Amino acid sequence: MAVELSLDDYVPTIGTLPPQASAEQALAWVERQRQHHIRGTGFAFCIADAATDQALGQLGLWLRELDAGRAQAGYGVAPGARGRRVGTRALLSLLDFGWTIPGLHRVELFIEPWNMASTRTAEYSGFTREGLLHSHSEIAGERRDMLLYAAVRGRQPRPD
Ligand SMILES: CC(C)(COP(=O)(O)OP(=O)(O)OC[C@H]1O[C@@H](n2cnc3c(N)ncnc32)[C@H](O)[C@@H]1OP(=O)(O)O)[C@@H](O)C(=O)NCCC(=O)NCCS
Repeated sequence: MAVELSLDDYVPTIGTLPPQASAEQALAWVERQRQHHIRGTGFAFCIADAATDQALGQLGLWLRELDAGRAQAGYGVAPGARGRRVGTRALLSLLDFGWTIPGLHRVELFIEPWNMASTRTAEYSGFTREGLLHSHSEIAGERRDMLLYAAVRGRQPRPD
């Protein structure tokens, strides 16, 4: 799954998975994901098919701002597994998990405005679009605008 994910043009620009990763590079990335829990910087999950356990993608809940009551989420679905709203189902599960963490009040997503697959995923998961943050992040060597989406504890309309 990690090798397939690395073939996506965008995924390697927003994380540490190298483009067109070798099996060795992909396994090293998996190991880096596992270090988040050990270091207390967040939780990295593999999205798996509940029936077959096949790996479909990844998502993370990053907790560096937990002292302020905030977390950030990020996700990617392997190209061959897209088109079935896997990201939405994974993000809803992530929220269920997130609200079990005492002191967490907001889960935030930062999404580039062109990324409609991701903005739809956020909206289908009950996140609210809060605004456009100009020149918020550097991606692939360029400053990029980001939409801020948030889910707030106790205020989430649960989608059907
Ligand atoms: C974002 C991502 C996880 C969504 O994958 P997914 O869960 O398989 O999502 P789907 O392909 O089912 O698409 C979700 C919705 O967006 C829509 N969509 C997808 N691509 C779209 C596009 N280019 N324009 C408009 N709508 C689009 C789909 O039609 C679907 O809506 P529908 O179910 O009403 O038809 C996946 O595209 C991905 O991994 N992208 C690369 C990494 C990334 O961008 N991560 C997020 C960073 S913020």
